[in-house]
Amino acid sequence: MTLHKKITSAPKADLHVHLEGTIEAAMMFDLAARNGVTLPWASVAELHAAFGFRNLPQFLEIFYAGLQVLRTERDFFDVTYAFLKRSAADNVVYTEIHFSPQGHLERGVTWTEMMDGILGAATKAERELGIRARPILGLQRHRSEEDALKVIDAALPWKQDIVALGMGGAELGNPPSRFVNAYARARELGWKCTCHAGEEGPHGYVTEALDLLKVDRIDHGIRSIDNPALVARLARERMPLTVCPYSNVRLQAVPALASVPLIELLDAGCLATVNTDDPSYFEAYLNENFLGTARALNLTEVQTRTLIENGFKGAFLDEGQCTAYL
Ligand code: HPA
Ligand code: ZN
Repeated sequence: MTLHKKITSAPKADLHVHLEGTIEAAMMFDLAARNGVTLPWASVAELHAAFGFRNLPQFLEIFYAGLQVLRTERDFFDVTYAFLKRSAADNVVYTEIHFSPQGHLERGVTWTEMMDGILGAATKAERELGIRARPILGLQRHRSEEDALKVIDAALPWKQDIVALGMGGAELGNPPSRFVNAYARARELGWKCTCHAGEEGPHGYVTEALDLLKVDRIDHGIRSIDNPALVARLARERMPLTVCPYSNVRLQAVPALASVPLIELLDAGCLATVNTDDPSYFEAYLNENFLGTARALNLTEVQTRTLIENGFKGAFLDEGQCTAYL
């Protein structure tokens, strides 16, 4: 079997994806029309033309504009189901999906609308497509910790449905240390914790996420490579890193796929995984992230297999559930 076939046919996990980053352009315009929302782009072609991202903050402006089309339970259902269907076509069998409640609540969307839509689609997709999806409450780090704590409290009726607390958004200038209390609260609730760190920000933010937020996983984490002692620690602690190769290229966190430090991380013994982040904006779902990376880094079959298995080992699953996927 070719490596290509081995990658595409293997059951895989996507642990780092933002629901609002899965809205395909055509669906975005359909939802905008359905909800009477005016987008800053006149057409799908114009939106696609805006995809030449310079950096994370400039991408986030577009991401925040696009998510405005999500208004109703049906919208959340449709977007979640479309993503799960597209992922199932790549043989993704398990995914943990960040969603950004703060970007919706401020527009009058309710928790019930968000959760009924997301969970309803997850239930249907598990039954019909054999893919399991669990939501991660994704905080936006440019907002206050007070707002983060409010959002966490409002999520309590869905405490059992939400698998973890996460945090994304503009990283530079918003270090993990701003959110110590929010993460402490999430841990009190029994949630797992993850945090974007070391994407555009320095390796020191990864250390802060470990020491101050006591996270169970690091999203991105590629800048850890600048600190060998940190890499050794991540390996020793078997701390999962959800690397998103196409995201890193598109947001110019690295110059090219060949510069994504996956081999260095694997060689050091880190639990590195491959994920999508915002697949509709970065125009690469999970298979393409694996295939493009395998090509660019000339990955061996063993390295590829390890990355695929790490996707399950890094998931918020207990050992028995994890083993069942391997
Ligand atoms: N980084 C931080 N926040 C995000 C991203 C990302 O790549 N995508 C959506 N929110
Ligand atoms: Zn992300």
